[in-house]
Amino acid sequence: MPKKFYVTTPIFYANASPHMGHAYAIVLADMIARFHREKGEDVYFLTGTDEHGIKNLRSSENAGKDVIQFLDEQAEKFRALAESLGSSHDQFIRTTDKKIHYPGATAMWEKLSTSGDIYKGEYEGLYCVGCENFKMEKDLVDGKCQDHNTEPERIRQENYFFRLSKYADCIKEAIEKGELSVIPESRKNEILSMLEGGLEDVSFSRPVKDLPLGIPVPGDATQTMYVWCDALTNYISALGYGSGDDQNLKKFWPADLHVIGKDILRFHAALWPGMLLSAGLALPKEILVHGLIMSDGRKMSKTIGNVIDPKDYLETYGMDAFRFYLAHEINPFEDGNFTDEKFKEAYNAYLVNGIGNLASRIMKMASSYLLEPVRINEEIKIPGYLEAFERHDIFSAIHAVSDFSAELDRIITEKTPFKLYKTDPEKAREIVSELVSSLASIARAIRPIMPTSAFVIESAIKENTALPPLFPRK
Ligand code: MSP
Repeated sequence: MPKKFYVTTPIFYANASPHMGHAYAIVLADMIARFHREKGEDVYFLTGTDEHGIKNLRSSENAGKDVIQFLDEQAEKFRALAESLGSSHDQFIRTTDKKIHYPGATAMWEKLSTSGDIYKGEYEGLYCVGCENFKMEKDLVDGKCQDHNTEPERIRQENYFFRLSKYADCIKEAIEKGELSVIPESRKNEILSMLEGGLEDVSFSRPVKDLPLGIPVPGDATQTMYVWCDALTNYISALGYGSGDDQNLKKFWPADLHVIGKDILRFHAALWPGMLLSAGLALPKEILVHGLIMSDGRKMSKTIGNVIDPKDYLETYGMDAFRFYLAHEINPFEDGNFTDEKFKEAYNAYLVNGIGNLASRIMKMASSYLLEPVRINEEIKIPGYLEAFERHDIFSAIHAVSDFSAELDRIITEKTPFKLYKTDPEKAREIVSELVSSLASIARAIRPIMPTSAFVIESAIKENTALPPLFPRK
C-alpha cells in the first residue's frame, strides 16, 4: 500500500479578497502535495475558508450585504484563486458547511467537554478583531495591535473556557522529542519558549448576542463557539470527524503536514495540539511555518491595506511563471518581498532566458538531428533537488534546478553540437541525446512547481518535436 500524505493549508478568512499572502500559502502546500504524489504517495490535500467570527460578520455588515450571500461570494473568490493557481486540492472546506463541518466542530466540543476540559468562567480582556484573539497589554504598541494598527476592544463577559493549561507540558514534550515537528528550528524555539512559561486557558465561546455568526455551543444556545475552536477542527471535520463516515479520518489522520504562516503558529502548535490531546486524537506530525510576504515593509494584509492582487500577475504572466516566482524568490522559512521589479527580473532571467530558452534550444537540435525520441530514465539527476524538497525547502530545490539549467547552457556553448553536427553528426547526436535526457530531469523536477511547462516539455521530448517559446518575452 502506498504511503499516505495528508497536507493542509490554513483556511482563509473570508472577509478579505484573496491576496499574495494567501496565494503563497496555497502554492506552497500545492507544490508539496504534488511532490508527494510524484513519489507515488496517496495524498490528500485540503484547503478552504474560515467563515465565522467577528471579522467576517463586520465585513459583511460593512459591505451592506446579507451575511450568507457575502460569505458565498467571498468563498467563491478563494475557490477561484486556488483554481487559477493550479491548486490540486482534494477538498475545499467551508466552515459554514452544515453537513461536513458543523458535526465535526460540535463533536469536538462535546469530546473536550467529556474530558472535563470545558468550564464556564468570566473573562475580561482586550480583543483584536483583526487577529480574532485576545491581546495582552505588553503585546500592544501605543495601545495598538502591531499587526493591524488598531486598538483592541475591551470585552467582559461570561463564557466557556478550554483548559489548555493542562496540556502545556505534554505539548512541549511532543515538540521537543520531534513527535510534533515544527520547522524551521527558529519557530520551534519560539513555540518552546512560549510553552516554557506554561499556557493559559482559552476563552472558547462568546455570547450569541455579541457573536451571532458561528457554531452554537452544544447544550447552550446562548453561546457561540470561539472562531479558532471551530476553525482548527476543519482539519478533521473535512475527513469526516463527527459526521458518521470516518473512513478518510482513519486513513489520513494524523496530518503529515500543516502549512501555516508564522502569525498563526501559536494556534497550531499550542491550541490545536491541546484540543487533540483532550479529544484523544493523534497529533499532527509536522508544522511548516513559512514567513510572510511583505509589501512596503509590512505584512501584506487587507486590514493594513497594502495588498497586491495575484490576479494581475496570473493574467499577464500565467500560472507557471507566478508559481515559479513564489518558489524561486521567496524562501519559505523567511519573510519575502513581492515587487513588480523583482518579478520581471526573475521572469526574464530564469524563465525567458533560462529554462524556457534552454528547452527550446535543446528540442530544436533534437527534433532536427535525432532519428527517434530519446528514451527517458525516470530518475531526477539534479544534485541537491530531492533532498531539499524532502525538507520542504522548495527554494533550494528550484535553485538547484536553475543551476542545473545554467550548467546545460554552458555545456551547449562549450561543445557546440550545432556546429559539430556538420562534421561529426554521430558525436553531435550523442551530445544532444544527453542534453535531452538532462532536460527530461528538469521537466520532471519542475512538475510540482510548474506543472504546465513540465507537461509541455515532456510531451515534446516524447514526440521529439520542437518547442515554441514557453515564456514569451514581456
Ligand atoms: N483563518 C485563519 C486560519 C485558520 S486555520 C485553522 C487565518 N486566516 S488568514 O486568511 O488571515 O490567513 C491564512 C493564512 O495566510 C495564514 O497562514 C497566514 O499566515 C497567511 N497569510 C496571510 N497574509 C500573509 C502574508 N502577507 N504573507 C504570507 N502569508 C500570509 O489566519
